Amino acid sequence: MNFEGRDVIDIDDFTKEEIVHVLDAADLITSKPNILQGKLLATLFFEPSTRTRLSFDAAMKRLGGSVIGFSDWKDSSVVKGEDLADTIRVIDGYSDIIVIRHPDNGSARIAAEAAHHPVINGGDGSNQHPTQTLLDLYTIRKSKGTLDNLNIAFIGDLKYGRTVHSLALALKNFNTKMYFISPESLKMPHEILDKLTNVSFEEHVDVNEIAPSIDILYATRIQKERFMFEADFQKVKGSYRLDSEFLSKAKKGIRIMHPLPRVGEIKHEIDKTENALYFQQAHNGIPVRMALLALVLGKI
Ligand code: NCD
Repeated sequence: MNFEGRDVIDIDDFTKEEIVHVLDAADLITSKPNILQGKLLATLFFEPSTRTRLSFDAAMKRLGGSVIGFSDWKDSSVVKGEDLADTIRVIDGYSDIIVIRHPDNGSARIAAEAAHHPVINGGDGSNQHPTQTLLDLYTIRKSKGTLDNLNIAFIGDLKYGRTVHSLALALKNFNTKMYFISPESLKMPHEILDKLTNVSFEEHVDVNEIAPSIDILYATRIQKERFMFEADFQKVKGSYRLDSEFLSKAKKGIRIMHPLPRVGEIKHEIDKTENALYFQQAHNGIPVRMALLALVLGKI
């Protein structure tokens, strides 16, 4: 399977076999040091990030490559009025591969069209976050041994959460049942639901209705920065809080995931239980992003 030169913009651009190929490559990648020596990654982050930017940075360096970029758009010429495509055309000439995070839906696709080198979407507005999905799938497979025959529930901001959009789309390739739990105003968008053909899903408001049958519960932060009006955010703020009382009602082997940052969705008392997967999940960003960089740069 050849990934060389490919953009990673939308998880729906990848077949099931291609997704599994990335996860398999992540299992082997740590034994391949220096394969990206001489390669340069540019990380262009027009929105805040801790995990995505630093794990791409670490992944590139662990494979012997180098990294340039900015983490604050105010440091870039965008403040002078430069448009995104021009910025990308220039950086494309400096580097071998670009990771971009941007507040506008569709911006990563615009960047990919402007660049000759591969572009990876590190999150475009409320649309998608495909590399988070690859590490989420890797985490589920590592924990459960499979991506099939699982009941996977998503809870929180399903309207604006880009991680849940990409993950739900990827899971339609596997034999999973999905549950979408959110306040009425933050339901999974129709554009996503319409693509979930040949897969079974249910929508709920109360997580307790389904707690005894869930294998994986994927919690998300209410995406405050995407709300037009602060008052609408205040109405749904703190809607869900997972705690040990919830765990006592849930299926025994349930695993809790979260792309992080959490802002109160998961109480700290869960952190030390075997149910908590979220820190392992964040750490899995390294092998998965190493594999993706090496694949797209044609080195594995
Ligand atoms: C997520 C994001 O940026 O979409 N964070 C991440 O990349 N791990 C989730 C979030 O910000 O809530």
